[in-house]
Amino acid sequence: MQKEFTIKNMSISLIVLLLIFQFFRIDKTNKVSAAERDVLFISQANPELASMLKNSCYDCHSNQVTYPWYTNIAPLSWWIKHHVNEGTRHLNFSEWGTYSARKADHKLKECVEMIKEGEMPMSSYTLIHGNAKLSKEQQTLLMNWFNSMRTHESDKPKENN
Ligand code: HEC
Repeated sequence: MQKEFTIKNMSISLIVLLLIFQFFRIDKTNKVSAAERDVLFISQANPELASMLKNSCYDCHSNQVTYPWYTNIAPLSWWIKHHVNEGTRHLNFSEWGTYSARKADHKLKECVEMIKEGEMPMSSYTLIHGNAKLSKEQQTLLMNWFNSMRTHESDKPKENN
């Protein structure tokens, strides 16, 4: 009797807590950035590459993030927003035009590595976004494209002045 009572109490507390969570909503406004700064504009990427990048990377690495209905549900929404914040902080394809040659080259190198190792797009994301998953051929196309844009500026030793 005592035990049942405790479990019931705990469930009610949990539900109340989840309800309170819903008041803490995430900010879904995208930062505004000039279209000319976007990597797809700068590189004049073909539509096939553009849609691959948009489908697989832009929800975390651009200012064009789309937020499906489940991003309204806390605490899931917080976890998703955290990925978007972290993702864009590390790499923002919408701000590509503001990167130095060295930084851009370094990011391109990392993009190739991440795809090669299967680390990007994140598996927790492709689980829900089936169309973000890259086939072997798509991975090769993307890696070749990233490589073709490299200047190898980041391989040079840093100047001391
Ligand atoms: C679900 C969100 C998400 C998606 C989709 C995603 N990324 Fe990421 N990415 C992140 C996060 C978060 C980080 C920050 C590092 C970490 O926590 O692992 C990151 C880090 C990176 C980095 C490292 C940057 C640095 O300077 O450290 C590269 C490169 C990268 N991602 C490339 C890609 C590419 C290319 C795609 C598409 C093929 C992609 N990502 C898709 C969330 C994502």
